[in-house]
Amino acid sequence: MISRKSIDEVLERARIEEVVGDFVNLKRRGSNLIGLCPFHNEKTPSFSVSPTKNIYKCFGCGKAGGAAQFVMEHERYDFPESIRYLANKYGVQLEETRQDAESIEAEKERETIYKVLEFAWQFFKNQLFKTEEGQLSGLTYFQERAFRTKTIENFGLGYASQTADGLTSTALKAGFTKEILQRAGLMTQNDGDFFRHRVIFPIFNISGKVIAFAGRQLQNNKRSPKYINSPETEIYQKRKVLYGLFHAKKAIRDENNCFLVEGYTDVISLHQAGIENVVASSGTSLTPDQIRLIRRYASQITVLYDSDVAGIKAAMRGLDLILEENMDVRIVLLPESEDPDSFVKKSGMAGFNEYILDNSKDFILFKTNLLLKEAGNDPVRKSALIKELVESLARIPEAIKRATFTQECARLMKIEEHILVRETNKAVAEFLQQKRRGIPSDVADYETRTQKEIFNKEDRPEDPHNIRFPEITDQYQERDVIRILLSYGDKNIPDSTINPLGRYMIASLEDIIDQFQHPVYKKIIEAYQAMLAKDQLPGPEYFTNHHDKEIQSLTIELMTFPYEYASWEEHDIPMQIQLHPDDNFKKDAHNAILRLKLKIVMDHIEQNQIRLTELQTEGNDEEMIIHIRMHYELLQVREQITSQFKNVVLKV
Ligand code: UTP
Ligand code: MN
Repeated sequence: MISRKSIDEVLERARIEEVVGDFVNLKRRGSNLIGLCPFHNEKTPSFSVSPTKNIYKCFGCGKAGGAAQFVMEHERYDFPESIRYLANKYGVQLEETRQDAESIEAEKERETIYKVLEFAWQFFKNQLFKTEEGQLSGLTYFQERAFRTKTIENFGLGYASQTADGLTSTALKAGFTKEILQRAGLMTQNDGDFFRHRVIFPIFNISGKVIAFAGRQLQNNKRSPKYINSPETEIYQKRKVLYGLFHAKKAIRDENNCFLVEGYTDVISLHQAGIENVVASSGTSLTPDQIRLIRRYASQITVLYDSDVAGIKAAMRGLDLILEENMDVRIVLLPESEDPDSFVKKSGMAGFNEYILDNSKDFILFKTNLLLKEAGNDPVRKSALIKELVESLARIPEAIKRATFTQECARLMKIEEHILVRETNKAVAEFLQQKRRGIPSDVADYETRTQKEIFNKEDRPEDPHNIRFPEITDQYQERDVIRILLSYGDKNIPDSTINPLGRYMIASLEDIIDQFQHPVYKKIIEAYQAMLAKDQLPGPEYFTNHHDKEIQSLTIELMTFPYEYASWEEHDIPMQIQLHPDDNFKKDAHNAILRLKLKIVMDHIEQNQIRLTELQTEGNDEEMIIHIRMHYELLQVREQITSQFKNVVLKV
């Protein structure tokens, strides 16, 4: 775990305009910077960056946050990943909190596995380029496949010789143990090399480290498999890896589309031809983990199939999963007996792109047509077809999209739209029920999303920044307190007995913290209190980058809206961070707290009066006396509070 101290250091160092500026072209306007929002499509800039507050906010789509959120959102990182990214950018040395001895040991061993894989990789490359056998067999093979030297280097291809233990003996000499070689999947049970007499394709993880290898035989020989892969290891889990992703991720993002192919050589050939947004699932059907990997970078997947129909039908089942992830899936059938590798070699980049443009079809419509062709005029088969189609339609989590496709499919199949709608709705309901019964599914948040739509609850985008807060309209006293706490809590107030302001405020609020009505304000204040208890002082960045989305977006909300919304958007007035001279912060805080306390007392008085009326109707004199006494006590408290306001105008 990264220590809190390091996280804070990173967040303090990170300048929002610099972090965003790496991805968005920003122009200065007033004291802010504006640009085109990277999170939604727009032609006029509504994406605003405030260097003074160290936050960004898009007035178009509502996304907002600090540097860490920007990186999380933009790069699809989780919080620690985004902190590491920023630490790297700002040269901050991260301090990891102490781990127990066991996990340190495990960490070290993992490191050694990475090291031995790196060692093996260098070994294979060396064999390919520097040994006679490698040049004659390996290089020649690649050259016959028209892989250019640059491509071979770029993908780090190598060669494993015929020798039984070439790698093993070299690695042992270099100080690696048998155990590590085995755990890295490089050695067989009999102490020999796992890869022999094959060309080698290293498999990289998303940050470019080698985690496994694939080896292809040099001549097609039915007696042994064409490709062998490293066995699964601690650091290589097939279902979580996409071949080529490390090389493709930038292009996938730029194109907002990822081509999905079957084979290693398909990836390499397309890449060599200039089509870089391509990955392979390596012979297995696509897993949810792999789909999510792609979703980090693009919302569309284009699957390239060779034209063997039987294979397509089987492979298509996996695609429903992509629909569940709310991604667009398109299908391209390649010409007869071509795979992407052979096809791009013939057609070149331009020809390939043109073909894709002409032939890519939306998955659902593609599936409809395919099934239709199969069913012909047979009514029984046609109804089976409807069932299968409905299975796919039901997986689309977005209601509007689902409706559009249902309509289109009904048209294609020449059946009444309402029939298909009804069937699809049934399937959606069934699908949800399965989930509720605990039938494993890979899409954790499908249910919530779909439920909302089915039961016609609010249909809002699944944007974390659009979290709807409970409708508590009259909590502006709480709001004000929190706003001041978040904005100025880290300020030191001259002549104050307790500093900084946040500490003073928490001390004054101590007795009413559990009376906060608004759950998120309450969470914020408790988080603040907890930090102070640990002797740490949360600055605004702590909350604008908070891992709890509710806290984070509410903080942004408080720091921008409605105080600055208008000025950011229309009038372009420089944002003010400081409305008052320093010594006024305390007065503001003090008054806000008093107002809140007054509000609480007034609420109690009102409640008490309601209770009194009830007791009166019931004729319960005993209880009434207690509540009358309470009434006078409350009035006293109110008096105490109002007397502290002095010259403040009351408005409750
Ligand atoms: P293909 O048989 O279509 O091969 O397998 P390919 O990719 O066109 O390979 P080349 O062009 O003949 O070299 C597709 C993918 O299935 C996996 C590999 O990932 C391969 O790229 N596969 C295939 C295996 O893992 N083992 C095999 O024996 C065959
Ligand atoms: Mn091939």
